Amino acid sequence: MPARTLLAPIPLPVLRPGPRHRVNPLIPSAASRSGNDPIFALNAEAQRRAAAGESVVNATLGALMDDDGRLSILPSVVEALAQVPAQKAAAYAPIAGSPPFLQAVVADVFGDGPLAAQTVAAATPGGSGALTLAITNFLEPGQALLTTDFYWGPYHTMATHTGRAVETFPMFAANGGFDVAAFDAALQRQVERQGRALVFLNSPCHNPTGYSLDADEWRAVAASVRRCGERAPVTLLIDLAYARFAAAQVDWVELVQPVLDTATLLVAWSASKSFAQYGARVGAVLATHRDPEQRQRIQAAFSFACRGTWSNCNHLGQLAITGLLADPAQRARADLDRARLIALLDERVTAWNREAQKAGLRYPRYEGGFFVTVFCDDAEAAAARAREDGVFVVPVRGDGRSALRVALCSTSVAAVPRVVAALQRAVG
Ligand SMILES: Cc1ncc(COP(=O)(O)O)c(C=O)c1O
Repeated sequence: MPARTLLAPIPLPVLRPGPRHRVNPLIPSAASRSGNDPIFALNAEAQRRAAAGESVVNATLGALMDDDGRLSILPSVVEALAQVPAQKAAAYAPIAGSPPFLQAVVADVFGDGPLAAQTVAAATPGGSGALTLAITNFLEPGQALLTTDFYWGPYHTMATHTGRAVETFPMFAANGGFDVAAFDAALQRQVERQGRALVFLNSPCHNPTGYSLDADEWRAVAASVRRCGERAPVTLLIDLAYARFAAAQVDWVELVQPVLDTATLLVAWSASKSFAQYGARVGAVLATHRDPEQRQRIQAAFSFACRGTWSNCNHLGQLAITGLLADPAQRARADLDRARLIALLDERVTAWNREAQKAGLRYPRYEGGFFVTVFCDDAEAAAARAREDGVFVVPVRGDGRSALRVALCSTSVAAVPRVVAALQRAVG
């Protein structure tokens, strides 16, 4: 039979919507969701204009790119992933995560210090999964988590998607530092009103501002949580998504220990940025509590929530990351690979601080991390003006304050002066 006959298209019936198709099948709360993440929409526009031949700087996406615009990866991690035996990787991981993986993550955060022995953990799809488990297990539906007024947008998506909400406090005091007084007042109000509180704190290298708490600020936060914990169940979650890229390694573990006298400490751990494996979806939630019985309850609640949300996580990723954390030789290689990425980013941070200070841009103390934000009056208008110059940044909003988020992680060092010049014009 000639090939042409085989390839002839089969006519399909035309399916047109009828009157019943006009009835919205979604429940009301899901009926008017904005499906498009605004950052991904800006990224798409930047890519479209670049493909059309325009010279653009795309400083929108939170992934670390080499100076030639390709995603940075760690060769040691790629090798570790390739070396996991196929039969092991293909099997289901235990529901709460592979025990050696969890042990390695706990040791990564707490070393062999006393907190490691008081910690339970569950594997999650990236740090995002850890945040979701915190929201659904430590807040009642209708209650709000508390975080800084500038915060990573998906906190709100995760909270509202699960019937919770987000409340904020002004992140920066008049002196430019972390507003510990505003934090303390907001936490007290929440404890009074809700009878419990869950705090999300993303430090070091906060997204979107780039800010890292200093030792005094950690101390003040811990003292406030400890005090409020005397009145109601208070949980402090530290979101460590970017921690490996911090310049000054403040010993936050030591500084937050007082919270354990009265409260629960959670950590959202992620391999996305620290091992440059954004797509592997490897993460964990850690819960530290002084009481063994409460720890057991938390562990059971996490396992139940894992089963009820995603069943179990990527086994291949957990197995590979376990080796990279726990095997001294593999860990040393990954640290070396990562040091190259940190140096790449640090070069951009130095260039940014030099140029942005010269240009008189207003931004928080910035010593390292994927992002920095420039304060301005009208972020949407300023971002649109920057786009006219081919520079793509993300408008963000705090309580009565707006800013432009600049992803230095995806901006080459050579492009930093152009970005600064465009922002100077845009916010001016
Ligand atoms: C502040 C913050 N927390 C957590 C995450 C979680 O990332 P992932 O789920 O990829 O680990 C991100 C990712 O961009 C982030 O910016």
